[in-house]
Amino acid sequence: MKQSLGVCYYPEHWDQNIWENDAQQMKELGLSWVRIGEFAWKEIEPTEGQFNFEWLDKAIKILGQAGLKVVLGTPTATPPKWVLDKYPDMLSKDINGNIRGFGSRRHYCFSHSGYIEQCKDIVTRLAKRYGKNPYVCAWQTDNEYGCHDTTISYSDTARDAFRTWLRYKYPGKGNDGDIEALNKEWGNVFWSMKYDNFDEINLPNLTVTEPNPAHVLDFRRFSSDQVVNFNFSQVEIIRQYSNAPIAHNYMGRTTEFNHFEVGESLDIASWDSYPLGFSEDRLETSDEEKRNFYRQGNPDFQAFHHDLYRAVGKGRWWIMEQQPGPVNWAPYNPAPLDGMVRLWTWEAFAHGAETVCYFRWRQVPFAQEQMHAGLLRPDSVPAQGYYEAKKVAEELNSINGLEINTAPIGIIFDYGADAMWDIQPQGKGLSYFGLIFDIYSSLRRLGFSIDFLSPKATNFNDYKLIIASGMMHTPDKLKELLQNSTAEILFGPRSNAKSENMYIETKLPPNLQKIDVTVDRVQTIRPDINIPLEINGNVKNYTEELEGKAEDIIKTSSGISVLKSKNNINYLGSWLDGNGFDELFISLCNKINLDYTVMPYGVRRRETTDHYYWFNYNENEINTIIGSIKGADFVKIKK
Ligand code: GAL
Repeated sequence: MKQSLGVCYYPEHWDQNIWENDAQQMKELGLSWVRIGEFAWKEIEPTEGQFNFEWLDKAIKILGQAGLKVVLGTPTATPPKWVLDKYPDMLSKDINGNIRGFGSRRHYCFSHSGYIEQCKDIVTRLAKRYGKNPYVCAWQTDNEYGCHDTTISYSDTARDAFRTWLRYKYPGKGNDGDIEALNKEWGNVFWSMKYDNFDEINLPNLTVTEPNPAHVLDFRRFSSDQVVNFNFSQVEIIRQYSNAPIAHNYMGRTTEFNHFEVGESLDIASWDSYPLGFSEDRLETSDEEKRNFYRQGNPDFQAFHHDLYRAVGKGRWWIMEQQPGPVNWAPYNPAPLDGMVRLWTWEAFAHGAETVCYFRWRQVPFAQEQMHAGLLRPDSVPAQGYYEAKKVAEELNSINGLEINTAPIGIIFDYGADAMWDIQPQGKGLSYFGLIFDIYSSLRRLGFSIDFLSPKATNFNDYKLIIASGMMHTPDKLKELLQNSTAEILFGPRSNAKSENMYIETKLPPNLQKIDVTVDRVQTIRPDINIPLEINGNVKNYTEELEGKAEDIIKTSSGISVLKSKNNINYLGSWLDGNGFDELFISLCNKINLDYTVMPYGVRRRETTDHYYWFNYNENEINTIIGSIKGADFVKIKK
């Protein structure tokens, strides 16, 4: 595969007489793709039913004739004011019941049927007009579902749709659902919470103390389904008029909806990578770690999402927006170290990205994002990001492209588990994402390439090691497939701790056939307390007391079981710190003869079919077993 570069462009922000020059300059820079249109609804349809497509026709033509391929976005993340005037109740409400109003973006509730129809109308018009346009070579639906906390809405519209969803989930006779079945599944006998009919059920906010976890879980599932359906309603239309691939641009650490399910109807998964913004505001890493990488980004955050979205895209994935310089929205907004924009781009390619698009072409001098860098400054002079993109374009020209293989290690990522942890973390700050991220980082410190797998995966035999940790509900079928596979399997902590509807089964967890282990009691631990292991490292955050005959492989220094194993099945009862996880994985690798290479601090490695890429996230040059690597740079070594 030949990798390519692109850029996000907003022709509607600029005078038409500079479009041609912009297009030429993009082409000269070595870009192949340009994404446009995703916020331009008002410019396309200024008032209901009155369309102004001429400017968009012209922009697409200019870009296309310059030799660029266009990704056309549907503009449904920014409904204009007239849409709101038409449907005043289409706005979402936050958990406190406050309306999330007009004046920025993503101001809609996924459940509003009127808004969905309005979206279908604009999408149909775009698909009809540009579906066969030779320059429109891909589509993007909406923009960043869930960004700005917009998956979950507590509006009346959402409440009504939730009641309907529940009636389907708990079907009864006739058109009504079976309210007794719901009461039983939710455990509503507790605190006199039983309902007599579905119309009594409200959304799980504004309660005195915490709402029933089963109620919240169903609401989370419903909210995820609404995103899946919203996306599908656009995909279905575009496919009628166009054969071009369809993508959506997901975000970093956005887990409120099931990305695998959204991705099922799409051709490409893409994500928007802002390494400096994300490492400041989306990770629980230590301040020291944040300081060390404040102009580089966390060394694992990008790779984690590359690997996750590769799975969501069923192999096909892009970066739709790559940070090119300082952004405007994080708590602190430093400039990337020189070299990092190039490093991030190559790292994405080494993880299998087809295309990396920079956000954005030119820094816009007005409105919310005026302080956000582009490849060009507002005066059109090239910024640092421009030169790094240019270098990548030249480097890409000198190779045939790169290919990737299946990794030796697979990690199951379960959006449902993330919701369950969120609903009952049992301790401040504990999250499924955090646990999986710690495991992922540890495996990367040992030099591994990693694949993420959907919980619906069925074949694990291509892998040497599979991680199924933290899946609070592990369906029986998955448990069976994992236990019968030839791979080494790691369950726990918290695997299969709950039923599908979040109660504790009386056959206590983890309830695995092939290993005799039972979780007796669990406890969560203050962040400033560590329980030392007998080997290097500590238990932190969360620990289970384990019973059962399976052999103890790792214990705490006071002799409490932490890892139990039988044959290829392992159960881990605790969350470990970095050293603890590293030791655990080294011992599993030794058991199955899987070669690992301990990486120097801040250095990461990714394997392609014929090379190893070594990325140095440090500011300084680092010595490694393959020689030294300059700061903010990478080397590639032929296998
Ligand atoms: C993304 C978004 C873009 C732009 C960018 C700024 O989340 O998709 O439209 O706002 O952030 O960093």
